[in-house]
Amino acid sequence: MQRIRKAVFPVGGLGTRFLPATKAMPKEMLTVVDKPLIQHAVEEAQAAGIEQFIFVTGRNKSPIEDHFDYSFELEQILVEREKLKELASLRSWVPGVGRVAYTRQQQAKGLGHAVWCARDLVGDEPFAVVLADDLVLSGTPCLRQLIDVHERTGGNVVAIMEVPRAETCRYGVLAVGDDDGRLAKVTSLVEKPAPDEAPSTLSIIGRYVLLPQVFAHLERQAPSAGDEIQLTDSLARMIGTAPFHGLRFEGTRFDCGTKIGFLKANVAFAMTRPEIAEELGDFLKSIV
Ligand code: UTP
Repeated sequence: MQRIRKAVFPVGGLGTRFLPATKAMPKEMLTVVDKPLIQHAVEEAQAAGIEQFIFVTGRNKSPIEDHFDYSFELEQILVEREKLKELASLRSWVPGVGRVAYTRQQQAKGLGHAVWCARDLVGDEPFAVVLADDLVLSGTPCLRQLIDVHERTGGNVVAIMEVPRAETCRYGVLAVGDDDGRLAKVTSLVEKPAPDEAPSTLSIIGRYVLLPQVFAHLERQAPSAGDEIQLTDSLARMIGTAPFHGLRFEGTRFDCGTKIGFLKANVAFAMTRPEIAEELGDFLKSIV
C-alpha cells in the first residue's frame, strides 16, 4: 500500500459568510489564538506524517504564500534584537524547501473543482484533503486518525460526525452499512440534503483520505448543489468500486467558516494554553 505523503489544502473559497473580514484577507488567515487557520491545518498534516503540501489558491490569497515563506527582513530584525526564541518559533513549522506547491483555481467553482485543480501535483497516489476552516482539537491529529484507518482498510476514508438534523443541508450526508460505532461502511452519499430527505445525520467534515481515481470522476462532474462542482458527488460514484469508510474521529470540531464556530474555537484553543487559560477563564466567568 502507498503511504499518504501529500495533502491538498483548498483555499480558493470566497468566505462570504465571514465578510467583511474576508474582503481583502483570505478566510484561512483568520487567527485562532495566535496562528492562522491554515497554519493549524498544516501543523496537523505535519503531525500526521504529510511531506508535500499542495495549496489550491484563488484571488486575494497571496498572504498564505507569504506566511509559508521565509521573511528575510523580519528574521534579520529578530537576529539583531536577539529575539532567538521568536526566530525559532517562526521557522519551526515552515515546510522545507520544495515541500510546498501552489496551484490556482481561477474561478471558485466549488470544493470538487478545487481538488481537481491539484490533479497533476498529486499524481497517481492516494492523498489527503484538509479544509482549514474545519479546526479539530484532539489528542491524535484528526488526519492521522484517518490515515491509520486507510492503512488498515485501503480506499477512501472521510471524517464524520453527527449534526443536528436541521443542519444536514450544509453537509455531505452518509447512509451507512456495517457500523461498529466508530467506523462505518459508506453505502451512499448525498450533498446538502434537506433535513426531511437526509438519509441520516452523519455528515462529512473537512478531512479526507482519497484515492487518485477521484480525479477522473471530478473531470466529468457537473455542478450540483449551489451550482458548484461538489467533491461529494464524485465520492458517491466511487462507492462499490473500492472500500469507503466514514470515521467518527476522536476530538472536537469547530466550523471556523462561521462566526460562532470561529469564536468557540478561539476560546477552546486558548483554554489549552497555560499562559492565558486562567485569566481567560476568570474573564469568561465574569461576563456571563
Ligand atoms: P465553503 O463551503 O466554506 O465556501 O468551502 P467558502 O467560499 O470558503 O465560504 P462561504 O461559504 O462563501 O462563506 C469549504 C472549503 O472549500 C474551499 C474553501 O476555501 C474552504 O476551505 N473552496 C470552496 C475552494 O477552495 N474553492 C471553491 O470554489 C469553494
